[in-house]
Amino acid sequence: MRPVVWGVLGAARIATQKVVPGMKGSPLLDMRAIASRDIAKARAAAAELGLAKAYGSYEEMLGDPEIEAVYNPLPNHLHVPWTVKALEAGKHVLCEKPIALTAAEARDLVAARDRTGKLVAEAFMVRFHPQWRRTREIVWAGGIGELRSIATQFNYNNPDPANIRNKADIGGGGLYDIGCYAILTARFIFGVEPARAVSLIDRDPVMKTDRLTGALVDFGDGRQLTFSVSTQTAPSQRVQIFGTKGRVEIPVPFNPVPAMESRIIVDDCRDLYGGGARTETFAPCDQYLLQGEAFARAVRGSEKFPYPVEDAIANMRAIDALYRSAETGNWEKV
Ligand SMILES: NC(=O)c1ccc[n+]([C@@H]2O[C@H](COP(=O)([O-])OP(=O)(O)OC[C@H]3O[C@@H](n4cnc5c(N)ncnc54)[C@H](OP(=O)(O)O)[C@@H]3O)[C@@H](O)[C@H]2O)c1
Repeated sequence: MRPVVWGVLGAARIATQKVVPGMKGSPLLDMRAIASRDIAKARAAAAELGLAKAYGSYEEMLGDPEIEAVYNPLPNHLHVPWTVKALEAGKHVLCEKPIALTAAEARDLVAARDRTGKLVAEAFMVRFHPQWRRTREIVWAGGIGELRSIATQFNYNNPDPANIRNKADIGGGGLYDIGCYAILTARFIFGVEPARAVSLIDRDPVMKTDRLTGALVDFGDGRQLTFSVSTQTAPSQRVQIFGTKGRVEIPVPFNPVPAMESRIIVDDCRDLYGGGARTETFAPCDQYLLQGEAFARAVRGSEKFPYPVEDAIANMRAIDALYRSAETGNWEKV
């Protein structure tokens, strides 16, 4: 397969530290260019990452006919506007999560995709990691009996007012930043869309972003997700999935280190001390590379990208409901 030629919109930390280094490891992905609002920053990032081209504006890179696919890691409020511009410039777009600020805004991407015929998808890399695929296989094969509930917790402690996560007016806050993973992975495991949701949000008094969000999401037929995410709590992440006959635990569900083995624990719960627990391990792998390759194969038409933009809209609908619930104090329909 001819490698897909990529350009990156913005010298974002996630791009320079994780996504581009990961994607550079694949023969299917030709990481060619990076654009920044500041040409010196673009040049420095290109030199560090070994990219052939640096641009001093996003528009200029979108005008480069060599670039076939764009990775968009801009702050959340710029996801839809720049993804639409890139699609209209004839590029395929892999856009960071959350794909938009609301489901209504995300719907603009359907029109842009249909108008341009280009591929657009939300970059939820965890769906490509073997630890999640294997977990879903176990659960769907009845390995923990009937699926009942998922408990997800994801925290970090970042009080820096200059960080995009702490700016309420550009899509900051924990629910957008990491709550989206709790919803996404529950939808991935339950295999259905949630019906309603309720939340409790504690906002930072100065930055006004949600710094602690607790939520209960009803997936119907007696199935529930409970989650807690925080931007001002000691870093920690864990997912537990409970069925009538056992549980699966993913100790590092969202940010497994590519160079390290990852693992899941499958427990038949015969006792409370792990007597029935076994560990499955997965060889080191890079979930950003795996995601990029799936996207590239879809660009070349050899397979369909498994998650169309409609999936991203469904995730946004749950985020919308949780932000609404925090205002009304009520259950909100998703
Ligand atoms: N999938 C994952 O694992 C993962 C992890 C972390 C973050 N993310 C997502 O990736 C995105 C970026 O996160 P990040 O932590 O990498 O952010 P970041 O380091 O702050 O990068 C954002 C980039 O956007 C550009 N930008 C354009 N307008 C801006 C504005 N008004 N304010 C700030 N930056 C602006 C800047 O690039 P230039 O100055 O070069 O133009 C900046 O470097 C977010 O949507 C986040 O949710 C995903």
